[in-house]
Amino acid sequence: MGAGELGIFGKMMPQPLLSVHGLTKRYGARIGCADVSFDLWPGEVLGIVGESGSGKSTLLSCLAGHQRPDLGRIAYDGADVLTLSEAERRRLLRSDWAYVHQNPRDGLRMGVSAGGNVGERLMAVGARNYGAIRDTATDWLGRVEIAAERIDDRPSAFSGGMQQRLQIARNLVTGPRLVFMDEPTGGLDVSVQARLLDLLRGLVRDLGLSVVIVTHDLAVVRLLADRLMVMKSGRVVETGLTDQVLDDPQHAYTQLLVSSVLQV
Ligand SMILES: Nc1ncnc2c1ncn2[C@@H]1O[C@H](COP(=O)(O)OP(=O)(O)O)[C@@H](O)[C@H]1O
Ligand SMILES: [Mg+2]
Repeated sequence: MGAGELGIFGKMMPQPLLSVHGLTKRYGARIGCADVSFDLWPGEVLGIVGESGSGKSTLLSCLAGHQRPDLGRIAYDGADVLTLSEAERRRLLRSDWAYVHQNPRDGLRMGVSAGGNVGERLMAVGARNYGAIRDTATDWLGRVEIAAERIDDRPSAFSGGMQQRLQIARNLVTGPRLVFMDEPTGGLDVSVQARLLDLLRGLVRDLGLSVVIVTHDLAVVRLLADRLMVMKSGRVVETGLTDQVLDDPQHAYTQLLVSSVLQV
């Protein structure tokens, strides 16, 4: 896979990490998302916002390969994702990509210890040395503010906020380049959300992650996203730099969203 292409002066031109064109997914007669196109550049955080039912989760799950779109193209690092073999797609999901679910139970193995949840991801990408795996797992628990003495506890003994932080450690330990997040702070108390957001912001910055984050919470994207895409009824109605979109929304729907008139 190429990292770029030669421009007219023979210099390497940067290439989007993810390039999406005309993505459409229907559920019978109902539209999940329709004709969605965007580029995500390396190290960029793209926020996707819109009221409930606007197609955010459908889009994210098509991007991450959890469902197949009816139409459209997705290129990752220049490669056509939709024509990859199942083995290639699995390899991408294991090593290059990560997916943080809204509900930590969907992204954790509840019957496995905290350390095991993190360590088994390392093993999935080839780590074999038990001591090194345990050290890395301990290090990552620390990064997400989980005390080392909890390493052998199961996530079912953790609070919702801790479970979410563990899910983040499990997903980031393998050093993915592209991270998908679906409402990562949803369902948590406001004070817990604020702490998690702070932590996420630090990790995204320190690791230079490229992120597509879906949320109905504009405070989340205000803090995390470089750029926003606003969705309504499955379609993109507005895109732009986060501050631009939130401070000077152009589309009537975005104006409603920003003024919190809409029930989200
Ligand atoms: N599995 C599904 N089967 C049928 N319709 C679905 C399914 N998932 C989503 N939809 C519909 O697709 C539209 C977009 O939903 P969704 O992507 O979940 O939106 P959001 O994440 O923004 O709340 C909605 O009309 C929703 O009812
Ligand atoms: Mg959703």
